Amino acid sequence: MSTRYKNLIGGEWVDAVSGRTFQDVNPADREDILGEFPRSGAEDVGRAVEAAQEAFKSWRLTPAPKRGEIIFRAGEILVKRKEELARLMTLEMGKVLKETRGDVQEGIDTAYYMAGEGRRLFGHHVPCELPNKFGVAMRVPVGVVAAITPWNFPLAIPTWKLFPALVCGNTVVFKPAEDTPLLAHRLVEILFESGLPPGVVNLIHGLGAEAGAALVRHPSVALVSFTGSTEVGREVATVCAQTGKKVSLEMGGKNAILVMDDAPLELAVDGAIWGAFGTSGQRCTAASRVIVHEGVLGPFTSQFVERARHLRLGSGLEETTDVGPVINETQLSRVHEYTEVGRKEGATLLTGGEVATEGRLGKGFFYKPTIFTDVEPTMRIAQEEIFGPSVAVLRARSLEEAVEICNNTAYGLSSAIYTRDVNRAFRAIQDLSTGITYVNASTIGAEVQFPFGGVRQTGNGHREGGWTVLDIMTEWKTVYVDYSGRLQRAQIDV
Ligand code: UN1
Repeated sequence: MSTRYKNLIGGEWVDAVSGRTFQDVNPADREDILGEFPRSGAEDVGRAVEAAQEAFKSWRLTPAPKRGEIIFRAGEILVKRKEELARLMTLEMGKVLKETRGDVQEGIDTAYYMAGEGRRLFGHHVPCELPNKFGVAMRVPVGVVAAITPWNFPLAIPTWKLFPALVCGNTVVFKPAEDTPLLAHRLVEILFESGLPPGVVNLIHGLGAEAGAALVRHPSVALVSFTGSTEVGREVATVCAQTGKKVSLEMGGKNAILVMDDAPLELAVDGAIWGAFGTSGQRCTAASRVIVHEGVLGPFTSQFVERARHLRLGSGLEETTDVGPVINETQLSRVHEYTEVGRKEGATLLTGGEVATEGRLGKGFFYKPTIFTDVEPTMRIAQEEIFGPSVAVLRARSLEEAVEICNNTAYGLSSAIYTRDVNRAFRAIQDLSTGITYVNASTIGAEVQFPFGGVRQTGNGHREGGWTVLDIMTEWKTVYVDYSGRLQRAQIDV
């Protein structure tokens, strides 16, 4: 019997009202069940939102430095438990240990950054046009925040949302992805161990179409912060428009690495391998296109393929593994369908392109690192997000053409250019239409103190991370204090 976990509502651990559950499966071994979690519905969500509303009354009045101290303590606990949480995360979502350690580290970084924000949360003092009148703009919390998070960064992304939401004085209903409920459970436990009062964070497990949808619809939720697919994000935005909520969306990517003919080639290959196959390609920032100058297309491609062929698939717990499984059966089929699509479109498969079933790999959801070449920019494999270990190599005759190919997709999260020419690098920085651009580094590697997000269908104009997340998690309130003792009329008494 696997452990049965619960929701957390108003400080109490409770089952779903329906009593239904779902299983948390290890993607490296489908017979390994890590736990059973409540399959919640609208009624559970309703209770959680009520608890969050109730807790908001006092949490919003708790001084921000105190709120920050709780987050700091959560960071301290994450430091102590980093290795244990990393191992659990590898079991739960498959990525290799060095990456799950990085995921926990990103949570620690966010805790320390946001704890400090408790003593800043800067507003603005602006001079008034009338005498004896004082004006400030200050940040106030928005209320109940719904945090809906994906499975690819089971700890880091929840901290990107929860820590700033809490420091800013909001209360939270947290609905983690159904593929990674255990890490969410641990994070919430840590927050309460750090001194968070009951009801300030409520945890609701369940499926997106059930618990997630009910949460987005709930009239007392003030803001939905969602990271996930563009399809679901669009539905979330529609419901938020209909119900008058604030909404912040982080969605898909089709990120590209540009390799110029003067690029340090080995470095570019390192970057392409890491970008395309790190986290089994399951990052919003993964490199799923490599656009190579025709002058180096031959040598780049042969080195890239050679390196990809030598990547070792396996359990992420083994130090010798380079690439872990993909998250579940559905994703495995989806990645393979894209291989079929690529073939039919006329692209050339250079390596991979099949489910890996050798030995123990057959027990999990493993896909061989896949590289296509002869890919045209309009092909589906060059346009659509695959979210797996599959990458398209495209040819360009110039920097201009490479930039045009890169920009010509629905998404705009991350891009990278490898070149030794500073002029080309700056032209790329200027012309690449993405929220993040790297020079001589891969498409992944964002740090928490910078804005994170993308343009076009990757997002809806907000940026998590850095100081910009505060604009998501707070409203501006403008305050005028007239200490003249008489009626003063703005714009009239000039
Ligand atoms: C994501 O891809 O969903 O830059 C987040 C990176 C990480 C964050 C990625 N620090 O790849």
